Amino acid sequence: MTFYDRFSVAGKVAVVTGAARGLGKGYALGLASAGATVLCGDVNENDAKLTAEEIRASGGRAEGFFLDVTQPGKVESAFSDAAYRLGTLDIVVNNAGVEEINDFVSVTEEQFDKIMSVNLRGVFFTAQAAAKIMMNQRRGKIVNIGSLGSAIGLAQSSVYCGAKGGVVQITRTMAIELAKYNIQVNAMGPGYFRTPMTEPFFQNPEHRRWIEERIPAGRVGTAEDLLGTLVFLCSEASDYLTGQIVYIDGGWLAS
Ligand SMILES: NC(=O)c1ccc[n+]([C@@H]2O[C@H](COP(=O)([O-])OP(=O)(O)OC[C@H]3O[C@@H](n4cnc5c(N)ncnc54)[C@H](O)[C@@H]3O)[C@@H](O)[C@H]2O)c1
Repeated sequence: MTFYDRFSVAGKVAVVTGAARGLGKGYALGLASAGATVLCGDVNENDAKLTAEEIRASGGRAEGFFLDVTQPGKVESAFSDAAYRLGTLDIVVNNAGVEEINDFVSVTEEQFDKIMSVNLRGVFFTAQAAAKIMMNQRRGKIVNIGSLGSAIGLAQSSVYCGAKGGVVQITRTMAIELAKYNIQVNAMGPGYFRTPMTEPFFQNPEHRRWIEERIPAGRVGTAEDLLGTLVFLCSEASDYLTGQIVYIDGGWLAS
């Protein structure tokens, strides 16, 4: 084994939730181009299958399937089925997320429940389903997706920030409990990236300026900017790193 083999995910089996579009699609393409077999799950089954097709067309291995992270029982059966068929489940990227901006005083119970059920409850039970398999394997990598909203408040995103702050805390606790099984649980906190979720922000010139002015790197990130951290967190090179959140934000939080 060379030093660089420790940074490889070649031959690993990975699930990416919310892989139909946006950053999840980027994670799926990235892990596949680094050699992993990628199972692309999403409530948008059609586009999840298109992500998988794109991976296969460029010589990678992938499958697309329906996955709703708000249904833990079904997530668990999908993961067991995948582990049985492919012999292992090495990596789960807990990416599926939703956002509906609204002033705190106007947030409805429906909005609160919807955002929490995907962004916190969904992450929690998806990680739990992965852990049950990984504990038997005595090996695994869980990467939960946080946000700048895990660290700071963002106006009109009170529920989102509540959920993303929670992602950091559940990540820490999962990491402590799973460390003895050689399972590492970490989180990534992307800054602002242009995706269907954030497109309305970028379409609004004032909001766009507000975002761009706060990025010391001087540019908005691209999905590729997240891949180095993701592959590292999914590889053996990070086997002693657990319970952390890594912000990939062009320096936003440092300033
Ligand atoms: N775009 C950004 O700038 C940014 C920044 C920080 C964090 N994030 C986080 O990254 C993740 C992806 O964001 P994005 O910008 O790509 O969003 P997006 O809206 O473009 O994509 C989200 C995907 O999740 C899927 N999804 C929604 N509910 C689901 C469910 N119940 N089960 C399975 N799949 C479901 C959607 O169908 C969609 O394909 C989210 O967790 C988001 O909070 C995004």
